[in-house]
Amino acid sequence: MVICYDQIDSTNRVAKELVLKGKPSGTIVRAERQLAGKGQYGRNFISPVGGLYFSLLLQPDLQLKYLPLITLATGLACREVIFSICGLPTQIKWPNDIYLADKKVAGILCENVIFNGLEKKSPTVVIGVGLNVNNTLSNFPPGIQPIVTTLFEHLHEQLDIDTLFSSLVTSIVKNSASLGADRQAILARWQKFDYLANKAVVHTAGLVTRKGTGCGISSEGYYRIMDDHGDEHCIVGGQLRLQS
Ligand code: BTN
Repeated sequence: MVICYDQIDSTNRVAKELVLKGKPSGTIVRAERQLAGKGQYGRNFISPVGGLYFSLLLQPDLQLKYLPLITLATGLACREVIFSICGLPTQIKWPNDIYLADKKVAGILCENVIFNGLEKKSPTVVIGVGLNVNNTLSNFPPGIQPIVTTLFEHLHEQLDIDTLFSSLVTSIVKNSASLGADRQAILARWQKFDYLANKAVVHTAGLVTRKGTGCGISSEGYYRIMDDHGDEHCIVGGQLRLQS
């Protein structure tokens, strides 16, 4: 079932409510625009008309420790679907951003809804995807225009947003299902589109900052960086970005 809104604060917020109300895996909340779209680290995700914004409820048959890989499987779906539909070669910035020509074109926010132990239910993941499709830079606040882009800005033609939507959902569900039996194949596909590979990066976790070079993901889906002494570090949380 797809529940559509012209506008809503955040499809992820609505989707999490629906999980608690017992809506089944596969339910989708979609909006033409969001008034308070949520990004990682509590940031806003600016969501003007012309973009694709949806949240998919998924109850994957996966061990708890592999749930964070859903973000990578979703990023891979975004990369592969965008390329197959319009030929634009995006890259994935670990863990959840999609970049096109060094600007952010999409973001992913996966949130787990975990029931209490008595209910014996496996967690449901709310997979939120925001993709800048037919909007133009002028639809974004001046402050973020230098760092974002849209598919339209590169193609100069409008895309059929419903086709993108259904292909993306199909691909996200398929990739997520593969994480059980065929995890390494998904991670190997992901590595080909790594935006941070061989670039100077900086990782911040609380008050600790570490500089290094991007080295791709580990077999668990963590991000690896090599510091200036040649030591490798696996990144699990915190913020990872390019050195400026
Ligand atoms: C990020 O850039 O940090 C993640 C952005 C995720 C945005 C999507 S849009 C659909 C869904 N609803 C939200 O409020 N956020 C996600």
